[in-house]
Amino acid sequence: MVDDDTTFGLRMDRYGPELVSGLRGAYGDRAEALFTRLTQALRSAFDARPNDLRVLDEARLLTPDWLQQPDMVGYVCYADRFAGSILGVAGHIDHLESLGVRYLHLMPLLKPREGDSDGGYAVADYRSVDPRLGTMDDLVALAATLRARRISLVIDLVLNHVAREHEWAARARAGEQKYRDYFLIYPDRNEPDAYERTLPEVFPDFAPGNFTWDDEAQGWVWTTFNSFQWDLNWANPDVFAEFVDIICFLANNGVEVLRLDAIAFTWKALGTDCQNEPPVHELSQALRAALRIVAPACALKAEAIVGPQDLIAYLGQGKHFGKVSDLAYHNSVMVQLWGALASRHTRLFEVALSNFPAKPASATWATYVRCHDDIGWAIGDDDARGAYLEGHSHRAFLSEFYAGLYRGSFAKGLVFQFNPVNNDRRISGSLASLAGVEAALAAGDDGQLADAIARVNLLHTFILGFGGVPLLYMGDEIGTLNDYAYIDDPDHAGDNRWVHRPILDWDLVADASADPSSPAGRILAGLTHAIGVRRTTPQLHASVESRVLPSPDSRVLVLTRDHPEGTLIEVYNFSEDVVELPVYVLRDRLGTHVTERISGYEYSLEPDTLRVRPYQPLWLTAKA
Ligand code: GLC
Repeated sequence: MVDDDTTFGLRMDRYGPELVSGLRGAYGDRAEALFTRLTQALRSAFDARPNDLRVLDEARLLTPDWLQQPDMVGYVCYADRFAGSILGVAGHIDHLESLGVRYLHLMPLLKPREGDSDGGYAVADYRSVDPRLGTMDDLVALAATLRARRISLVIDLVLNHVAREHEWAARARAGEQKYRDYFLIYPDRNEPDAYERTLPEVFPDFAPGNFTWDDEAQGWVWTTFNSFQWDLNWANPDVFAEFVDIICFLANNGVEVLRLDAIAFTWKALGTDCQNEPPVHELSQALRAALRIVAPACALKAEAIVGPQDLIAYLGQGKHFGKVSDLAYHNSVMVQLWGALASRHTRLFEVALSNFPAKPASATWATYVRCHDDIGWAIGDDDARGAYLEGHSHRAFLSEFYAGLYRGSFAKGLVFQFNPVNNDRRISGSLASLAGVEAALAAGDDGQLADAIARVNLLHTFILGFGGVPLLYMGDEIGTLNDYAYIDDPDHAGDNRWVHRPILDWDLVADASADPSSPAGRILAGLTHAIGVRRTTPQLHASVESRVLPSPDSRVLVLTRDHPEGTLIEVYNFSEDVVELPVYVLRDRLGTHVTERISGYEYSLEPDTLRVRPYQPLWLTAKA
């Protein structure tokens, strides 16, 4: 008989050493005491784990690659903007199922502060739900309903900061030393000024500087993001212990994936930019090990929107290989997709992907075209040089292009956070508006519209074909345009990221399903079809990596996925030109007879070139 003591003991044997080593890396000789304390907390959480979730644990232990399978598709939405409330989401599962969704990220839904809460990223209570959306019981019920339909619930775990209104911050202000030590509060400007010398600003427009004077706290509080988001002091082991409790609480309520918000910022070190510091990875290793002990069904996803050279560490490099987050956003692919579309040139994309270190086979990218945030041009200067570009001017070109300022640009985006110090201009805008649908509809030009829709389908197909969990952002499936009405809401008006966070138009969803020839219908049909093809394409299992094949044509990107069941070669035309692509690069690997899986057509590669239509994606395998 395998009893709880045995199971818990086996998990401690397996993950205890990873937990201790992470704690030692972050807390040095304070690690052992913390470990002893955590062991008790983990055992209590393990004992409290409901039976249905224990069954899920067993199932996941038998299917460790659950996030990597080719039928894994993610969808990201705000519960209220999607369905009014948490319980409302259950009424729209059919739509998710029709897209093949198996992973549902509901944007911040834990109780935020009143008023502007940075879209819910200023959490006032991690153990209750935003009352406008429902209750914790609703969330538990929704998680169970989703699980019964093979959809995993994903929510945000905001780690770097809490709302100024969170109990810890209130007690810190009331003078309790224990809680003052949860934060970074300085009596004068000496330390803040010393840190500021090397700190960038995340929101230079509406939250300049990284410290905020607080009268009640009588000090300068570290606030990387908005002044109402108080950074936590992760160098304090008590903060770690609090978050282990929170993680276990959420996991035991049915959450299956936790998105580690702004994780790159959690560790501060004087003289650095306080992002991606090595202890960040010690902390993720320790958090993951703790979660595995209690709830092995659950996974962690790193939200580290950082430069390409820093990104791979979030999936585990060196001693952390295979031991940190299970998933991480592939910010670099997202940026390169937009870069290639604007420039009709794939050289930089090739260089960036080729320079990317290999990921652990067990870890998985989250691939995405858009999310709720702005697009920042995270392009490495070395990568740019490798593509004969100058990083700064190329980034400036992309900002101008997507702000619609560049001559001939098809995009309708808004500049987010102009930073006069480095001329950095990030971009807000919905997928369809950035890809040209908005401009084409306004111009009433069918040719432009066809190109714009083809761009949307190209990008969607790319994130389905790259390997990883493709994340569809709510509304993109029907080509939702920018929503300029955000200006009318005083809590949103100052933050133009709300232009691409509209309320989902269910009438348009219905129309798109009913009429596949409408613009929304063409986008939805293209996406749904590609998802179906992906599901039956074993080469798209995420343990295999996409590798660049040097393209014979600079407008086209060519990727290969070398899978034991045969190679898949993907061809993406990033231009509005018909490209006659020399086939030698394909023929060498696939032979002369190939199947194009998206169209189902068979092609002969005997002629020397293959015709690739404007913005066409091709997924080619050898003909069986
Ligand atoms: C993450 C979120 C973003 C938020 C920030 C601060 O980057 O995606 O929306 O503003 O963290 O929590």
